[in-house]
This record gives sequence, structure tokens and C-alpha cells, in this order.
Amino acid sequence: MTESPINSERGKYVAAKAALEFIKPGMKVGLGTGSTAAKFVQLLGGLVNNEGLDIVGVPTSSQTRDLAASLNIPLTTLDEAGWLDVTVDGADEFDTKLNLIKGGGGALLQEKIVASASDQMVVISDASKQVTTLGAFPLPVEVIRFGWGTTAKTIAELLEAANVGGHEIRMRMQGEQPFITDEQHFILDLHLKRIGAPRQLANQLNRIPGVVESGLFVVMADTVLVGHEDGMVHTYDRDQGDMGTRAIRIPDDDSLYVPGA
Ligand code: 5RP
Repeated sequence: MTESPINSERGKYVAAKAALEFIKPGMKVGLGTGSTAAKFVQLLGGLVNNEGLDIVGVPTSSQTRDLAASLNIPLTTLDEAGWLDVTVDGADEFDTKLNLIKGGGGALLQEKIVASASDQMVVISDASKQVTTLGAFPLPVEVIRFGWGTTAKTIAELLEAANVGGHEIRMRMQGEQPFITDEQHFILDLHLKRIGAPRQLANQLNRIPGVVESGLFVVMADTVLVGHEDGMVHTYDRDQGDMGTRAIRIPDDDSLYVPGA
């Protein structure tokens, strides 16, 4: 579905608001990364500060940690928390089997570790991220810096025989320099166009020495909340399937939905 930027921002807000229903007092909550997750963190901060909601958050990136700290959300580390009740995070693409591509913001490694240590992973998204087949969004793969060129060649060999629609591999850049993750690794973006067998590809990538993790999240999301600009949210659940749409109350003030707000 094609959406205007403001509608997409409204959709993200609606999904973030719907995710608040998964948060109960006393919970340990994984806090995702990206613009959609930031809207959730902001709304959560409102509940903590204005309504005394008692939760503790575990951020999935330095970016989210800084945002949550600025909102006075109590934070801890994953190691301190041990196990989380729920993680709420965004995605770059999702399909109706709840497979995801993540890592557009470069935080896929901590995001995957935190989501894996949670009872529930709730994904929040606007409608533009829903696809029939994953792969239009380039698949991020986090790699060790040592020998990254050799790792990239091994990935290229794997892709030759893989069930995908494209083979191009690009080093993620930040200006003139390679992008460096919070864990001091590089990211290779795989332009695959179509990923025919996500689970198989995820497993194959993870077997390559030098690959730390891929942005393929297979059988990890429990629920995907898809927000629409008119305030409707569509829920897909791993156990209950397509749960249809319902309305979420959202403010009329469009300034709330401006990117980065
Ligand atoms: C960061 C991620 C994000 O969840 C993903 O990129 C979606 O971001 P946004 O909500 O800004 O579209 O995986 O690593």
C-alpha cells in the first residue's frame, strides 16, 4: 500500500498506541529501535510520568537508551533483568506468517537478543511495511569487521544458490565511512528483491564465520499491530491468525505525527 509520509507517521503512532495494551504494571519491557518504536517509548514515558506506571525498560540500542532516559523511564540491562515480559519493536518488512526483516536502523543484533529473551514480541508498523514476500527491503547482515570482505564473498557464493531474486551486496555507509553498530560491527545490506525461503536463508547466513546475525526474524514475532492513518489497527497473531481491525483513539493534532516527534 502506498501512503503519504504523514499517513505513515499516523499509522506508526496508531500501532504504538495499540501496543500499550500489552503493558501491565510490574513488567520488564524490551524497548525497540527506530521511528515507530520511538513513538511507543514516548507514549510509554507519558504513562510512567503522568500515571505512575511501574515498569522497567531494556533498550535495544544506545539511541533508544538515550530517548528512554530523557523521558525518565526506569531502565536496566538485559543481564540485570534476565528475562522480559514483552518486547515492542518496529520492522522494515513483515509478512502474514509474521516473518520480519529488521535492522534498517542498524540495531538488529541487540533487537534480536532482547526479543529472544522475552515472553512476547509485539511488532508495531504502519501498513507500508506489509509484504506478500520478504525481500524488497535490503536484508541487513551484521558482520565482524575482521575479514569482512572475505565474509561478503562467502555470502555472495551462498546467494548464487539461494532462493532469492537478487544478489547485490552493499556495505552500509554513514557518510564516507562504514556504518558501525553499537557492537562495533559492520552491516552488509543484501539487495535480494525476493526471499523465497526465509528460515533457510537465516540458518545458512548464521553458519558463515564472520556473520554475527541477520535481520531475518523468523518465528520470533508473536503479534504484529498494523496502524492505519484513520485510527484503525489490524492485528496478526501467531496463534490466533488474522484478528481483524479495531479502532484506537488518537488525537487530532497532526503535529504529533511529524517524523521524529
Ligand atoms: C532498527 C529496526 C527498526 O525497527 C526498523 O528499521 C523500522 O524502523 P522505523 O520504525 O523507523 O521504520 O529494525 O534496527
